[in-house]
Amino acid sequence: PEHELQAHFERTIARDQRIEPRDWMPADYRKSVLRQTAQHAHSEIIGMQPEGAWITRAPSLRRKAILLAKVQDEAGHGLYLYSAAETLGADRAELTDKLISGAQKYSSIFNYPTLTFADVGVIGWLVDGAAICNQVPLCRSSYGPYARAMIRICKEESFHQRQGYELLMTMMRGTPEQRRMVQDATDRWWWPSLMMFGPPDADSPNTERSMAWKIKRHTNDELRQRFVDMTVPQAGALGVALPDPELRWNAERGHHDFGEIDWDEFKRVVSGDGPCNAERVEHRRAAHEEGAWVREAAAAHAAKREEVAAA
Ligand code: ACO
Repeated sequence: PEHELQAHFERTIARDQRIEPRDWMPADYRKSVLRQTAQHAHSEIIGMQPEGAWITRAPSLRRKAILLAKVQDEAGHGLYLYSAAETLGADRAELTDKLISGAQKYSSIFNYPTLTFADVGVIGWLVDGAAICNQVPLCRSSYGPYARAMIRICKEESFHQRQGYELLMTMMRGTPEQRRMVQDATDRWWWPSLMMFGPPDADSPNTERSMAWKIKRHTNDELRQRFVDMTVPQAGALGVALPDPELRWNAERGHHDFGEIDWDEFKRVVSGDGPCNAERVEHRRAAHEEGAWVREAAAAHAAKREEVAAA
């Protein structure tokens, strides 16, 4: 009976155990985990574009090899996460359609342009740094396949963060022009990185329930604060300024205070009206259409093998 299944589900959550694909779960739990994993998968796939644009223009063979590996990792993350979404009953082709039609979201951060090679470094440092901050606690998310995907993803994200920081350190030891590039990229990516954590807790419709179900382990504002506290000393070590005159240590709180985020900009970008939204989705649509023959060939091959096996 349903109330016993419900009680078993609640006990599993209360004991910090995992919900697995075959377990009974409330329809809203399934819907919410699916919403988050699908958005997360889409973010990884769209996230290949801003940096992918620099693969052909990397300044050395070494930088190119690193960047190639990184962008391939993002594709892999997308695939783990789409697989996790499939365990909840989602259809892969439908997920892609929903991304392309705008019915499902992806992270706001990937709707900003990458103007110089310093952006590759700053994305590694700030964007992947923010991603790690958000995703390490998700390794303890209550949905098993999502939590396990996160463990692997976080290991790879750490490599991404380090490659970005190392690139920036190299550039900061370079010419005045290179240092200017790093500062300029930091100025452009800082605020959008803070927006990655989502709306303030008071305006976050999903947080309360996702925390109760342990899908999420911390609120948006908690993780944003953790990221700011972690990043300020890194900026100091690098020798770049963070573009916020209100950023300062608050000894009483034991945290850094920081300025107000432009939430109108956040809403615009999330609702499809950011600097690169149209371009990103169009690129994804074209790649999907160009790949149609591969999917057809794979399906035909699978059907043929089935026929042979049946004969
Ligand atoms: N970009 C786009 N949409 C966002 C963003 C953002 N930065 N932040 C919040 N939103 C959306 C939410 O998805 C939600 O939309 P929906 O209700 O239509 O699904 C809405 O804004 C309200 O936000 P919340 O109620 O706070 O949503 P939620 O509890 O899901 O928290 C968060 C948002 C923090 C992004 C959460 O979903 C999460 O931790 N996701 C996993 C991490 C992730 O997706 N990272 C992707 C970028 S990192 C990378 O790929 C390298």
